[in-house]
Amino acid sequence: MSTKGRVDRRDLWPMRGRTLAASWLVILSLGAVPLWSQDPVEFFKKNCQSCHTIGGGDLTGPDLKDVTKRRDRDWLLRFIMNPQSVISSGDPIATDLVARYKNVMMPTVPGMNRELAEKLLDLIEKESALEKSQFAGVQIATRPFTPADRELGRRIFLGLQPLEARGPACITCHDVAGAPGFGGGHLGPDLTQVYARLGGRKPLSAWLVSPSTPVMQPVFKEKPLTADEILALAAFLEQRAGQPPPHRAGARVAFLLSGLVLAVGLIFAFDAIWKFRFRGVRQSLIDQRRASQAA
Ligand code: HEC
Ligand code: HEC
Repeated sequence: MSTKGRVDRRDLWPMRGRTLAASWLVILSLGAVPLWSQDPVEFFKKNCQSCHTIGGGDLTGPDLKDVTKRRDRDWLLRFIMNPQSVISSGDPIATDLVARYKNVMMPTVPGMNRELAEKLLDLIEKESALEKSQFAGVQIATRPFTPADRELGRRIFLGLQPLEARGPACITCHDVAGAPGFGGGHLGPDLTQVYARLGGRKPLSAWLVSPSTPVMQPVFKEKPLTADEILALAAFLEQRAGQPPPHRAGARVAFLLSGLVLAVGLIFAFDAIWKFRFRGVRQSLIDQRRASQAA
């Protein structure tokens, strides 16, 4: 057996060493990414400012200016790390807050841990001491809504007007009063009353600038809504808030029935096609036979 062309295993070692070193580098840097990206300023922008300002008034949640002065730090840490568990423990401060903020429960923000919660509280403390915090509030247009805004909002909601960043249409996951046909999806809540529920135009708009809830955040993080789209959606949702929520029980029965009718129809249709085909074949056999007999 010739040794030519055969690769000695030992020749591979230096290469393996290098690949190994490279993969370790990759693994190490992947592990380090979450640490770098835990910059509290960036984190607050992405995950908190949709519901909170620091010195800009209440949104869906309370203004956090000086919150470290009015509450115990340990309570704040526990609350930021897991609001639901503090609320469901019957904690009196949390219960009172939930009632005051229209039963909107603060979500547990993905990626939260004690170290980050500490950094966020330090940031809130520092920003509270400033004359004007960088988190005094995102810019929300205040001009009155027009009928054109409401119509654009309706078209965006229903997916008749594609979103500029190509995010999915609201109707795929949300129902709303007046949605045509069988109504919207059920992954997300019915949005008929959301304008009032989140506290009106400013809180709803800020909420939509950077949604921070478990499903909405990943869906719209890379495909944010534009300011014009948010204005139009707010106009549309304000108008809907006056209406009763849709009753879809009838629609669902109709949906099932129409499926059934379609299925039965298809069975008859295939049966007819089959019979026709069969007759067609038989007829041609008979014709052939006659032709050969005649010959
Ligand atoms: C979806 C909206 C929402 C998001 C996002 C949100 N919060 Fe909240 N937050 C609330 C609401 C509403 C309350 C009031 C308590 C309740 O109803 O759960 C609250 C309460 C608080 C409180 C207590 C305020 C007080 O007066 O005692 C702190 C502190 C807080 N949030 C910090 C944060 C931080 C930090 C983030 C980002 C990591 C954040 N929140 C993200 C809605 C939100
Ligand atoms: C992929 C499905 C999906 C799409 C698309 C979607 N949403 Fe959502 N939305 C959800 C879910 C699920 C929730 C509940 C909170 C969560 O888990 O993120 C939600 C929550 C909300 C809320 C808060 C409701 C409340 O009562 O607290 C608003 C406002 C909202 N969505 C608006 C919109 C708008 C406007 C659009 C279209 C631009 C949209 N959503 C598109 C799934 C979706």
